[in-house]
Amino acid sequence: MPAQFPDRFTPVSKPAAGSLPPGRRFPSTIAIDGPAASGKTTLALLLARQLGYLFFDTGVMYRAITWAALNSHVDVDDEPTVCTLAEQTQIDVRPASKPDERINDILVNHQDVTWDIRTKEVEANVSVVAAYPGVRKALGEAQRKVGLRGRIVMVGRDIGTVILPEAELKIYLDASPEERAHRRYKELVERGQQANYEELLAAVLKRDEIDSNRAVSPLRPAKDARVLVSDGKSIDQVLAEALVWVFEGV
Ligand code: CDP
Repeated sequence: MPAQFPDRFTPVSKPAAGSLPPGRRFPSTIAIDGPAASGKTTLALLLARQLGYLFFDTGVMYRAITWAALNSHVDVDDEPTVCTLAEQTQIDVRPASKPDERINDILVNHQDVTWDIRTKEVEANVSVVAAYPGVRKALGEAQRKVGLRGRIVMVGRDIGTVILPEAELKIYLDASPEERAHRRYKELVERGQQANYEELLAAVLKRDEIDSNRAVSPLRPAKDARVLVSDGKSIDQVLAEALVWVFEGV
């Protein structure tokens, strides 16, 4: 699939396979879970590039269904209708077709919604939609199929716990709500959009609360996940820490 990477990161060279502990290989399935705006996508893209793996951000699928509901004026509180929509909506993730900083093209029933799924309105409703068991079932099966092919870095909330519990490396990427809201603020401002830090912090906390307390697939680290807290760390530092686990091999 991907990928476009910012050039500002320092590439780290991969150790020769022979320098891995004897009998070991790099993990083929890597799950990266964590709360909103913890830097999962950035880390996953860099790991995927290092390893030549597929990058798959499952969050875009929940965002796509949320966009589809809002766009067709379906009340997001109407669980049965939203679940039916999730079963019937075709979501495609394709290589980026435009040089506008997108990572992939996201299509909903053949319509390009790559940027539409990033709006405040989608963000305010996505956690409600993602909490519906019917929505999770419809999207989760497709995600697992892709994950099982291997050579993949998958990003989400429940990849290590539910979608791909056999993932060979599980990273739970965390950061304080303030740090995460600050990063989202910077990201929006850099894209030339309006942003309000207090509003972003409230939105992040609200999503965390719904994502962590839902009955099905709540956000939490898998028992065997490596927890990486990224407060105050640069992208290079976070990547270097994750690569230590990758290079340990399985
Ligand atoms: O990029 P950010 O962390 O802000 O969000 P995202 O990964 O695009 O996910 C958007 C929302 O989708 C999350 O807040 C969750 O409610 C939901 N989600 C989920 O429930 N399970 C996943 N595997 C991925 C996302």
